[in-house]
Amino acid sequence: MRIAVYPGSFDPVTNGHIDIIERAAPLCDKLIVAVLRNNNKNCTFAVEERVGMLQKALAGMDNVQVDSFDGLLVDYARQTGAQAIIRGLRMVSDFESELAMASMNKKMAHEVETVFLMTSNTWSHVSSSMVKEIGGFGGDISDMVPPAIRVEIEAGIKQKEDER
Ligand code: PNS
Repeated sequence: MRIAVYPGSFDPVTNGHIDIIERAAPLCDKLIVAVLRNNNKNCTFAVEERVGMLQKALAGMDNVQVDSFDGLLVDYARQTGAQAIIRGLRMVSDFESELAMASMNKKMAHEVETVFLMTSNTWSHVSSSMVKEIGGFGGDISDMVPPAIRVEIEAGIKQKEDER
């Protein structure tokens, strides 16, 4: 069985992530979308909220599962039997850090390949941090995030702003 893991912060999931998931899912038997738990980043959404939003956005995609993980990604890949790690590349600026991460993961787990998909042009400018910044100033994020979770994302961003 070909299993791939698509890891990330997903804080929150964007249409760019969904694009990568929709294109990666047909390439494997099972795609695990894995939310990092022990994140150094100061996340807006709790892990459970991010997992829940991914599940809603991905409902109906039969070979896609949503999970969360702690610790090293390569350990998680080995535990789940994944042969591949999927990452999306939006722009040249992503390349340097992604190359470093893929090389380090390859060094730690030679049997696990990192597979890069180029984000579709439509979403190459979209990132979770931009969604949060635009949403935080009351801007329209409706064409950047899945419709099923837009209201939830807007509410979460607003709550975080109010707490400041
Ligand atoms: O969405 P992000 O924040 O770009 O995802 C980064 C992620 C979660 C893929 C990366 O930080 C990660 O794999 N973290 C787990 C810890 C780990 O394995 N670190 C070593 C990477 S070389």
